[in-house]
Amino acid sequence: MCGIVGYLGQKPIVPVLLEGLKRLEYRGYDSAGIVTLSNGSVNLVKQAGKISNLEALLADRPINGSVGIAHTRWATHGVPNAENAHPHTDCRNKIALIHNGIIENYGVIKTELISKGHQFKTQTDTEALVHLIEEFYKSGLSFEEAVRAALTQVEGTYGIAAVCSDEPEVIVAARKGSPLVVGIGDGENFVASDVSAIINHTKQVSYLDDGEMVVVRRDGIEVKTISNQPVQKQVEEIAIDLERIEKGGYDHFMLKEIMEQPSTIQDAMRGRLLPEEGMAKFGGLHEVMEALLNVRRILITACGTSWHASLIGEYLLEEFVRIPVEVEYASEFRYRDPVIENNNALIVISQSGETADTLAALREAKRKGATVIGICNVVGSTIAREVHAGVYLHAGPEIGVASTKAFTSQVTLLTLLTLLLARHRNMSAAKGVEIVQEMMTLPGKVEKILGLREEIKKIAQIYHKSSNFLYLGRGYNFPVALEGALKLKEISYIHAEGYPAAEMKHGPIALIDDNMPVVFIATQDSTYDKIVSNIEEVRARRGRVIAIATEGDEEIKKRADHVIYIPHTKQMLTPILTIIPLQLLAYYIAILRGCDVDQPRNLAKSVTVE
Ligand code: G6P
Repeated sequence: MCGIVGYLGQKPIVPVLLEGLKRLEYRGYDSAGIVTLSNGSVNLVKQAGKISNLEALLADRPINGSVGIAHTRWATHGVPNAENAHPHTDCRNKIALIHNGIIENYGVIKTELISKGHQFKTQTDTEALVHLIEEFYKSGLSFEEAVRAALTQVEGTYGIAAVCSDEPEVIVAARKGSPLVVGIGDGENFVASDVSAIINHTKQVSYLDDGEMVVVRRDGIEVKTISNQPVQKQVEEIAIDLERIEKGGYDHFMLKEIMEQPSTIQDAMRGRLLPEEGMAKFGGLHEVMEALLNVRRILITACGTSWHASLIGEYLLEEFVRIPVEVEYASEFRYRDPVIENNNALIVISQSGETADTLAALREAKRKGATVIGICNVVGSTIAREVHAGVYLHAGPEIGVASTKAFTSQVTLLTLLTLLLARHRNMSAAKGVEIVQEMMTLPGKVEKILGLREEIKKIAQIYHKSSNFLYLGRGYNFPVALEGALKLKEISYIHAEGYPAAEMKHGPIALIDDNMPVVFIATQDSTYDKIVSNIEEVRARRGRVIAIATEGDEEIKKRADHVIYIPHTKQMLTPILTIIPLQLLAYYIAILRGCDVDQPRNLAKSVTVE
């Protein structure tokens, strides 16, 4: 995700800010920029790509000053080029702003400001905020007051830092939903999105809470709420080391990413749910909406984890939109000469947006006249650029090779897409409202499941020496069984197979003995009774049963060796919950086997070759 660092002090400003940015590189980014204030002017340098590109530009165009802010951007709105990189400036080039998060109502703000004569230079949501600050500043407010006034009009999430050339001894920063920390030094102060950016200079920090704003000066800091109430902050001493900080305090990126899911699922839904109408909306699909509403057949193609999410998409779309859906591995699709007609749509799903087979499948479908839409995480990636239209996960960079948070975001978006298309067809408003309301409870439910870590670790301790695992599920949870098995084999190197539970009788049942742990996804839904019979079949052969079950299901305890309970939800939404314990189980088993979970052997995060 994006990174923020700001500095006010006597040290040479550019090296301090660049060092801070480099410490934030691990978070993933696609462009970087820096602004300093000197002699009443705003010195802005930004560049696409790596921080080394920015450094090279700064060598050609040196800037100085004793106050400045810098940013690494991970694109959400607008392609990752120099123009869209932060900082963003106002019309008069007095105010500069950096921002992490998403301004949901930027469209409305932008339209209004354009009507007042503001000139926009970028495609970003952030630029709307800098012009809004300008608007208040021009009306006679101080810089701090102008930032405060603007923030009260903003919907969405932010961690921001801003400077103004008329007040060169001040950085104003604020937080709502995106972390921000103030570093306190001797005659110098810092602001950053995470402590790794400033840890080399000071270990004394104060963490902002949501809804707080700080005015950073050379000789001190003043924290207030955005509604202007003074706040007394604690100053803390940072004790943990840099490597751990980068992983958000967790031992591995994979665990950090698993734990991030309550917020990444929320971010996938942010600004896209219409609770009163029981509808979803996607700005990115506007141009293809008409074609999408008229399609007669949907094809979905992807690889790996994204392919598993696609299967869930098939179940969702067929059940609620009632049009035929086919899912195919991208590597097969590209060479098979599939039948595509021009009233067909192809959905390509790719976290990285760079997978070679998925890209080739997309090109093939486009050549054959399909409307192609993308579901990607990496903004500006090749797939995102080549599709006719698309939606982004907004899940932040996924660094662990085994995909976790991207999966739940992909399924969330496929659910929203289903809602959108179904409501345009025959789903009632009441049904739509019911689904939207349930979706809004998912982040809290995921959080609850994540709280079962210790329990899941104990199960991992019992089975980490097993050589084989079987994962079984039915309906919406059959693809989850595949994904659970994939997670385990990717990072622990244990052989694991996922199967539709009833299909077990046609082969895998031969493998079952008392050495075979079998993971059942046995939530209480329309296939519950059937899956209970499948559990009995395994037990009759002395297989060891680990069941993922619905809270309150006491009966299952009699049949399973271990039960991991998840909160109740609608059947169509269960995969977003049932996959969480399977990710954790794979993680802890791999750790107990001493495997490198973030970089498993032989695997690549982004497979850009055939
Ligand atoms: C690789 C990764 C997987 C990923 C797959 C598809 O195999 O290791 O985690 O699911 O590629 O990647 P994509 O970026 O297209 O979703």
